[in-house]
Amino acid sequence: MRQETRAVPLSGPYLDEREAELVLDVLRSGRLSLGPTVDRFEEMFAEKVGAPYAAAVSSGTAGLHLLCVTNGIGAGDEVITTPYSFAASANCFIYEGAVPVFADIDARTLNVDPRAVEAAVTPRTKAIVAVDIFGYPSELDELQAIADRHGLALIDDSCEALGARYKGAPLGSQGPSAVFAFYPNKQITTGEGGIVTTHSEEEWGLLRSLRNQGRGDEGGWLEHVRLGFNYRIDDIRAALGIGQLEKLDEILALRSSVADRYRELLAGVPGVELPCPDDDDHVRSWFVYVIALPDTATRERVIARFEREQVGFNRYLPSIHLQPYMRERYGFREGMCPVSEDMSSRTLALPFFTALERDAQEHVANVLNSAL
Ligand SMILES: Cc1ncc(COP(=O)(O)O)c(C=O)c1O
Repeated sequence: MRQETRAVPLSGPYLDEREAELVLDVLRSGRLSLGPTVDRFEEMFAEKVGAPYAAAVSSGTAGLHLLCVTNGIGAGDEVITTPYSFAASANCFIYEGAVPVFADIDARTLNVDPRAVEAAVTPRTKAIVAVDIFGYPSELDELQAIADRHGLALIDDSCEALGARYKGAPLGSQGPSAVFAFYPNKQITTGEGGIVTTHSEEEWGLLRSLRNQGRGDEGGWLEHVRLGFNYRIDDIRAALGIGQLEKLDEILALRSSVADRYRELLAGVPGVELPCPDDDDHVRSWFVYVIALPDTATRERVIARFEREQVGFNRYLPSIHLQPYMRERYGFREGMCPVSEDMSSRTLALPFFTALERDAQEHVANVLNSAL
């Protein structure tokens, strides 16, 4: 099930006959959408992450957008977030007319630095969108304290972090509502899909209405009680998700051993900085394996070698504020978030997926070593 034709692809899903069987069951049932499989997927997911409620949606981006709506983010509000992320974590509130305020990151964790968040608060700030980048938990307690002090909402973008643990408990079980995503490079996949976890029954009801064109619990198919969206996931994808959740523990363990093997192979290689290790409060769920090289020139030299040797890679992650549409729309420029910009210029994702084999990892390490 490889995504690319490279000798060692960048990523790939981990599926077997069980998913095929579950999907076929749905196809045969005739209940392809708004059926019982979505409810089952949500219940299983909520239990896995220790959240009381979960609402499945069509993508991680859709889930983030819905949390911006439930938190009343609107035109003219400012939302503080990290520049070192995938664009969707900032786009979600721009859809509602809010303005992005980027706070710089911590060079070690690559997550937003709470001190930079505090410094960015203004009377117009409405919310903070934290991102657990590359599966490493954000400083949720510190961010929650800032949010409480200033009366802000805190949204946790855990799209890359299913299975990560903060202060001993899985992400999703803490206070802030969180979003997880299921694109095929994620820990588990539904093809496209996402889910929102919440500790509020009221917010859960709102999420279910908003994803379903604003329909209410009562009333007919053509009665809409609020402005909604079609952000539903269907039962076919939910079935795929159930098959994946059944093997989540196995997937997480395999991904951890792939990461451990990279650490063994790359520790001590001059010029290679490895992802920050776990500590008592932060346990990463492995999404990608991103190293930092000394500078852009070295990274590009490694990439040229990877291309020749058919080793998958990506320049994870460009800083969002320097994306062309951000420069054009808000006039953002270099120098606004120096730590993020520096990391963006020299970080590199290596091939990483659940079934990645040792000999392929050795090949990646050898190619990297020879390029350096
Ligand atoms: C940090 C982060 N946020 C949001 C998303 C958006 O998820 P999706 O692609 O399912 O819309 C992703 C997925 O790539 C992500 O990595």
